[in-house]
Amino acid sequence: MTLRPVRIAGTGSYLPEKVLTNQELEKLVETSDEWIRSRTGIRERRIAAEGEFTSDLATKAARNALEQAGIEPSEIELIIVATITPDTLTPATACYVQEKLGADRAVAFDISAACSGFLYAMEMARSLIAAGGIQNALIVGAEKLSAFVNWSDRNTCVLFGDGAGAAVLVPSENGGGRILASHLGTDGRQTELLNIPGGGSCCPITIDNAEENLATLAMQGREVFKHAVNAMRRASEHAIESAGLSAEDIDLVIPHQANLRIIDAIVDRLEVSKDKVFINLEKYGNTSAAAVAIALDEANREGKIKSGDHILLVAFGAGLTWASAAIKW
Ligand code: UT7
Repeated sequence: MTLRPVRIAGTGSYLPEKVLTNQELEKLVETSDEWIRSRTGIRERRIAAEGEFTSDLATKAARNALEQAGIEPSEIELIIVATITPDTLTPATACYVQEKLGADRAVAFDISAACSGFLYAMEMARSLIAAGGIQNALIVGAEKLSAFVNWSDRNTCVLFGDGAGAAVLVPSENGGGRILASHLGTDGRQTELLNIPGGGSCCPITIDNAEENLATLAMQGREVFKHAVNAMRRASEHAIESAGLSAEDIDLVIPHQANLRIIDAIVDRLEVSKDKVFINLEKYGNTSAAAVAIALDEANREGKIKSGDHILLVAFGAGLTWASAAIKW
């Protein structure tokens, strides 16, 4: 079977209006703007409004991507939403997005792969289009992490933010841009390093444990940091090599936006120059599955990616999971 090449036809993103600054966090927990900036690079993050859900953020990002791709919602055949903060445990957030977009033809489901979710979704969609099963796909990374953060835990509450990013994938014309290679990985032995322990079938929230904040993010930051650097470096090398490229061929790296120090460590090891790395975490914090998708859209709309450029996307998150993609734009 001949596999069709697949390209990104449009990108989109949406960030909620409300800005939460480091200075405002100083009033909530014992922290400082100086600590947050020097340890993470984050200055502020966005917080969704009370009645604004993950599917609302996803739908707005999706509309932007569809508009840029010149594709109507009614034409979309597949919607994958990557999220760890779904509107409801079931149905999938993608079902709400399908309804809000009016994308009646689309099959819709979610992927739970934390911060790597958008790149997992990209590879699933790419494979289905490549095999000829579908003609297009809408992939979205969307999170309302503010609803799953323990606002009295300074170890985590300063790190995360809300937002959504999306992309539309279609078959590529001969010689045009395409996804060249991707690499996905999982290490299920490390589930305890980063998780939301409660609210699932193993630990339902009950009257007895309601005050323990079990349905919020818990992280062993230092351990996660070490794994993140190693896994993202290896995933990057994998994608670059599988694409038949070398590090100097990469025009732009779009890494997961969790921590500036993690990004610096990866860039040093990959020997890519720092001016080729897209960073926006100072504005949004860590938006998990949305981070790479938002950064891709901002880089695209700011004109930082030209036709023919080679870009590298790379992410890492709970699971542990990691993922990378080398793309010719
Ligand atoms: O998106 C999925 C992947 N996630 C990540 O990649 C996150 C990976 N981890 C990290 O980015 C970093 O580990 C953190 C930013 C979470 C933490 O930075 P760190 O340099 O590893 O700090 P630490 O956890 O080693 O804590 C150092 C100190 C501790 O105090 P002691 O024990 O040395 O007295 C913490 O209690 O900093 C303290 N601390 C804080 N102080 C002020 C922790 N959080 C804060 C805070 N404000 N918000």
